[in-house]
Amino acid sequence: MDEIQRELLDIVTQVRTHLEYQRALGVRVIAVPSSVAPLSHSAPKIDASPSTPPVTNQKVIKAVPLSARGDDGRTSSVHPETLASIREELGECVRCKLHKGRKTIVFGEGDAEAKLVFVGEGPGFEEDQQGRPFVGAAGQLLTDIIEKGMRNKRAEVYICNIVKCRPPGNRNPEPDEVAACIGFVKQQIAVIRPQVIVTLGNVPTQNLLNTKEGITRMRGKWQVYEGIPVMPTFHPSYLLRSPGEKGNVWEDIKLVMKKLGLSIPSKESDS
Ligand code: URA
Repeated sequence: MDEIQRELLDIVTQVRTHLEYQRALGVRVIAVPSSVAPLSHSAPKIDASPSTPPVTNQKVIKAVPLSARGDDGRTSSVHPETLASIREELGECVRCKLHKGRKTIVFGEGDAEAKLVFVGEGPGFEEDQQGRPFVGAAGQLLTDIIEKGMRNKRAEVYICNIVKCRPPGNRNPEPDEVAACIGFVKQQIAVIRPQVIVTLGNVPTQNLLNTKEGITRMRGKWQVYEGIPVMPTFHPSYLLRSPGEKGNVWEDIKLVMKKLGLSIPSKESDS
């Protein structure tokens, strides 16, 4: 074995050790930046998904590389997973202290093949009771934005949060709680592979985009997460307190609709 072969072997061993470590931590999906094209579509896949069938009421859709969906040709080497298997992996989670006060894990809901994903902060009281995201007052406003504003069905988008358990008193999730949970929403996004993500407020914007910039500066400006366009906008709870900002959110949503190729309702037909 010559020196180059020894170096290659060393690299392979290090990668293997790292992947095994990630698997031991529970990671099941590894996203590779789209600039790193797979050498071959027939390259062997590392599928660490459990062999037992998923047991949840989530829609079971096998993820396919985006190129296979024929959407826009972006390459992706995300390994096949399903929302159901991610939910199964989450289990009755005790990875952070939020589990102590929760009634229900709020995993997320909607179309597993949605073109649009909304990411919020974390469940509130009503969400914790029902196990569904955005079903309280802020949720009603988000539903109105989707259904009355965008003229779409709520069930056709996907809605989830940065943390899946309710922070006490609806405080912001703390860094250790986000760190314990964010891998799951990242896996959900990797499986759904939407055309656009909307982040609602500071918590999802800063954590998904890895920035400390506030939402007031970020909103309305396209960002990118793992090759997916992201539109940060205000959180609906903030809109309930500051209804004067609704116009700004509508401007952001119109940019999203344009990106998705949706027709924007004329002012006259708005209600
Ligand atoms: N606020 C959020 O950020 N998420 C919910 O699910 C509900 C309210």
